[in-house]
Amino acid sequence: MRHIVFLSGAGISAESGISTFRDAGGLWDTYNVMDVCSAEAFRSNRQFVLDFYNKRRRELADKTPNAAHRMIADLQREFPDRVLNITQNIDDLFEKAGCQGTIHLHGELTKARCEVCGHIWKIGYADLVGTEHCPLCKAARVRHHIVMFNEQAPEYMRLYEAVEGLGVNREGLLVVIGTSGLVLPVEEFARYALYSILNNLEPQEAIDDRVFSVHMYEKAGDAAPKIAVLARRFLNGGEIS
Ligand code: APR
Repeated sequence: MRHIVFLSGAGISAESGISTFRDAGGLWDTYNVMDVCSAEAFRSNRQFVLDFYNKRRRELADKTPNAAHRMIADLQREFPDRVLNITQNIDDLFEKAGCQGTIHLHGELTKARCEVCGHIWKIGYADLVGTEHCPLCKAARVRHHIVMFNEQAPEYMRLYEAVEGLGVNREGLLVVIGTSGLVLPVEEFARYALYSILNNLEPQEAIDDRVFSVHMYEKAGDAAPKIAVLARRFLNGGEIS
């Protein structure tokens, strides 16, 4: 059965007012990534790291999805069980847009996790101040449910399964939106798919766009309607060139 895998990064949320990491003025221009997003930093500077995510969580409260998030939600509604949404993003804009079953490879800002029993629960946009207790096991070891550098990323298993699935019977379309490809080898993933679409603001050093059937260098919100046309054509048995 023909199906689509969407794989996104920070760029898909940029027009919603959420900073990317490596563009000019991005998050890693402001912070040293290893001071706020690594297992070592969390061990040596726990509340400083929690406060970094508290700030990003607070900033998320009033952000709204853009046309790219809504495009994926629309396709999921039109083609049930044939559109899988995978993201590196920790924001909740896909959920706010009505997407179903989004796989968050790097966790979710709106959730907390117990370091003792592993329980995960929604905290919305509230701060983690360090005195919280796990609602399940009552341990006082509550953290942000985010994957930081040098930490386990269990959801990657589902990503690799989805990429393998693209190649089965060559019935998959991969759509990559808003990622520099520095953490995920997106062009390798594209080789598994029958067709693939790449949408970024500009070419990325880490991505050889010749591997993709189509590439669009423009804002995700502007590319969204064009991607939707190609996605519908593909799912209805058409070609993408
Ligand atoms: N529309 C489309 N693409 C955009 C837009 C936009 N409006 N704005 C920026 N982009 C693209 C850029 O061209 C770039 O390719 O989004 C990408 C942003 O790249 P990064 O900032 O590196 O973000 P991302 O690829 O998601 O980072 C991957 O690195 O730090 C870790 O865990 C963090 O999940 C993150 C991972």
